[in-house]
Amino acid sequence: MAEKGKTGKSSVKKLENNLKAVEDQVLLYAKDLARIFTERKEKDRQIELTKQQLARSARIALLGELAAGIAHEINNMLVPAVGNLSLLLMDRSNLSEKAVERLELIEQSLSKASGMLQQVLDFSRKKPEKREPMDICAILGQSLSLVKYKLTKNQITVENNLLPDLPKLLVDDAQIEQVFTNLTLNAIDAMEPGGTLRIDATNHPEKSAKKQPYVEILFEDTGSGIPPEIIDHVFEPFYTTKDTGRGTGLGLFICYRIIEKHGGTIDVMSASDQGTQFKICLPVS
Ligand SMILES: Nc1ncnc2c1ncn2[C@@H]1O[C@H](COP(=O)(O)OP(=O)(O)O)[C@@H](O)[C@H]1O
Ligand SMILES: [Mg+2]
Repeated sequence: MAEKGKTGKSSVKKLENNLKAVEDQVLLYAKDLARIFTERKEKDRQIELTKQQLARSARIALLGELAAGIAHEINNMLVPAVGNLSLLLMDRSNLSEKAVERLELIEQSLSKASGMLQQVLDFSRKKPEKREPMDICAILGQSLSLVKYKLTKNQITVENNLLPDLPKLLVDDAQIEQVFTNLTLNAIDAMEPGGTLRIDATNHPEKSAKKQPYVEILFEDTGSGIPPEIIDHVFEPFYTTKDTGRGTGLGLFICYRIIEKHGGTIDVMSASDQGTQFKICLPVS
């Protein structure tokens, strides 16, 4: 009897062990399934993101072409107007003081309009691209010194976290400076006095099948943020939420075109009242 009891106990033990092994296996399968499911979700998210990015870049390219076409036509009309105005002003001895004053006001408006059109045209013409190895920190420093007065006036603090080990990038320094300046000016416009603009740059030297080494530059402000119904449009030419005379809606369009021409990407993340983050990735070649 005792022997039988022992065998029974060991069979139960064996069964328990088997059950445990099955449980472990099921747990492993469950974990595998969860991992596959998460990976699948991440892949779907990436595909959706790429689709959205492609649609956005096609839309911006189309609007850019449209804007350039219109800019070209208006510019053709502006040229004779500016020419005739200059001729009139050259002969100012024949004009009354009031007339000169008015003509000078017209000249100012025309030159503003022409400057705006020129910005659109500059990025549609196929010009030879300047590419030289440049230090991103130096370009950022230059750009911040340009807007220093505005930063101080609006009591904005800049937290600058550019790591010293950043590689030099093959860029047109004047254009990249324009991108940094536009992003900083927009951040200033979006923030109350006391706001902070954080600028980070990190090196991503890893070379994988899909990605080439790149430098990531983040501009993060503590401003009003961008509502979801607006965020999809901010890179479009002439899209502005600012009052007439304060915004042209060209800043981010120009940033987008410059970064695209450098083989990089620019993205925006934001939510109302939670500040805005612009992320630029520039390839290291
Ligand atoms: N940092 C920011 N915070 C909040 N809104 C922003 C920010 N940057 C851009 N925007 C939004 O994007 C729009 C387009 O910007 P931009 O192309 O520079 O044109 P502009 O500054 O002339 O309006 C702005 O009018 C604003 O609504
Ligand atoms: Mg702007």
